[in-house]
Amino acid sequence: MYAAEDLLLHTNAEVTLIDRLPVAGGLVRHGVAPDHPSTKKIGESFARFHDHPRTRMRLGVEIGEDLSVEEVAAHHDAVVYAVGASDARSIGIPGEQLAGSVAATSLVSWYNAHPDADPDAGAAVLAAERVVVVGNGNVALDVARLLVADPDALAATDIAGPALEALRNGRVREVVLLGRRGPEHAAYTASELLALRHLPNVDLVVDDHDARIGATIDGAAPSERAAVLAEVARERVDWSRAPGEGRRRIVLRFHSAPVAALGEDAVRAVRTTGPGAEVDVPARALVRAVGYRGTPPAGLPFDEDSGTVPHEAGRVADRPGTYVVGWIKRGPSGGIGANRVCAAETIGTLLADAVAGRLPEPRGSARAFARLVRRRARRTVNARGLAAIHRVELAAGAREGRSRVKLTTAEALFAASRRGRLPLGR
Ligand SMILES: Cc1cc2nc3c(=O)[nH]c(=O)nc-3n(C[C@H](O)[C@H](O)[C@H](O)COP(=O)(O)OP(=O)(O)OC[C@H]3O[C@@H](n4cnc5c(N)ncnc54)[C@H](O)[C@@H]3O)c2cc1C
Ligand SMILES: NC(=O)c1ccc[n+]([C@@H]2O[C@H](COP(=O)([O-])OP(=O)(O)OC[C@H]3O[C@@H](n4cnc5c(N)ncnc54)[C@H](OP(=O)(O)O)[C@@H]3O)[C@@H](O)[C@H]2O)c1
Repeated sequence: MYAAEDLLLHTNAEVTLIDRLPVAGGLVRHGVAPDHPSTKKIGESFARFHDHPRTRMRLGVEIGEDLSVEEVAAHHDAVVYAVGASDARSIGIPGEQLAGSVAATSLVSWYNAHPDADPDAGAAVLAAERVVVVGNGNVALDVARLLVADPDALAATDIAGPALEALRNGRVREVVLLGRRGPEHAAYTASELLALRHLPNVDLVVDDHDARIGATIDGAAPSERAAVLAEVARERVDWSRAPGEGRRRIVLRFHSAPVAALGEDAVRAVRTTGPGAEVDVPARALVRAVGYRGTPPAGLPFDEDSGTVPHEAGRVADRPGTYVVGWIKRGPSGGIGANRVCAAETIGTLLADAVAGRLPEPRGSARAFARLVRRRARRTVNARGLAAIHRVELAAGAREGRSRVKLTTAEALFAASRRGRLPLGR
């Protein structure tokens, strides 16, 4: 959307916006945590460009499936791929595939009502009293926070209805955040770490199992994140004891890498490294929050190591008129704002190519493209349909005292989009 905004504001280009899902928003809708409503507001500012007179929206069209990369290129002067990075990286430990081991990507999709989410993604995790979350990034913090949150406090948000219900019946008492390095190397931001300190009725504890931890936190020049931990209780956690009955808690265990998930047919413990010996942390669920991974549509060059499309300042190598932006360009890191700078670079390259006459001439017209889309995609959603989806979700939210009730399936989204075609928007 930053790329589209740049084009619409600074050129007279016509822009086709395509997404494989019947609803727009990417990770702003399906990634950002429901208890971060102010972050999600950026979606409203992007929405100003959905029904811009020079925008055509074609939602529900998957490139690489419904249309090939070549077909899209043949009908446009330039194509910018902003397809993100939706797969999960794996940790690469034995037992990772046991029941009860879940990728954060699945859990996040589930609580954010992604239409492709596994409806059972949260079941095993919420049935566990102790959950080990591997990874020290902001996604790990999002997951930990939501697992111990008071469901009543989430009730007003746009969290997926089935996830809210499941949280109400959940048994989680303790979440252990496993960082393979020290607090000074944690990938999360100090502000998100600080927020954990202020969760109502939740204790935050640092497992003081390794002398390096205290030394870093109490050191002469702690990093911003380590400084946040100075106010946090430290204790040597006895893992042979079950999580307490009192307040829920989040335990930060640093300098501890996962070695294996243990269990016959389901996770019963996570073997971790410690300063002397390995330590088994009993837990019936393991959440792998070790990062996302990009998979671009077939037909684009791909670098397996980084999970990105090779490019030069946004221009895809050996594909004239093809560009990348966002996580599929830079890899799966950086907050929403980082994509604005990234888009400025890509659109700058695109415009320089246009001025230099380096864009290939499209063979098909916009009208021919519309016909092609109609032939290939059984059903699509345009800007009016998207507006109808938002109206339906907001109205349901108003009825239930929630900011929005998200529709959780593609079927329901398509059905809601068609209500926009009826008089009075019914
Ligand atoms: C769990 C999570 C929480 C986050 N929370 C925050 C936060 O609180 N604050 C913050 O600043 N940043 C946050 N981020 C980071 C932020 O979401 C990303 O920086 C940003 O969304 C990346 O944008 P993108 O356009 O590259 O990818 P995405 O937002 O993933 O968008 C990619 C879009 O491409 C579509 N697509 C994929 N393949 C195809 C295809 N073949 N054909 C058609 N369409 C396709 C997808 O459906 C999707 O809509 C979070 C990230 C995650 C994972
Ligand atoms: N509130 C927000 O602003 C917000 C919320 C969510 C996400 N985001 C952003 O979205 C991006 C993605 O976040 P993310 O959390 O998915 O990724 P991330 O920031 O890259 O963090 C991944 C974490 O996984 C760890 N890890 C990787 N492989 C591991 C392994 N084999 N064993 C143990 N640990 C391993 C990494 O440790 P090492 O450092 O040791 O490799 C790191 O701590 C980030 O830029 C994040 O800031 C922002």
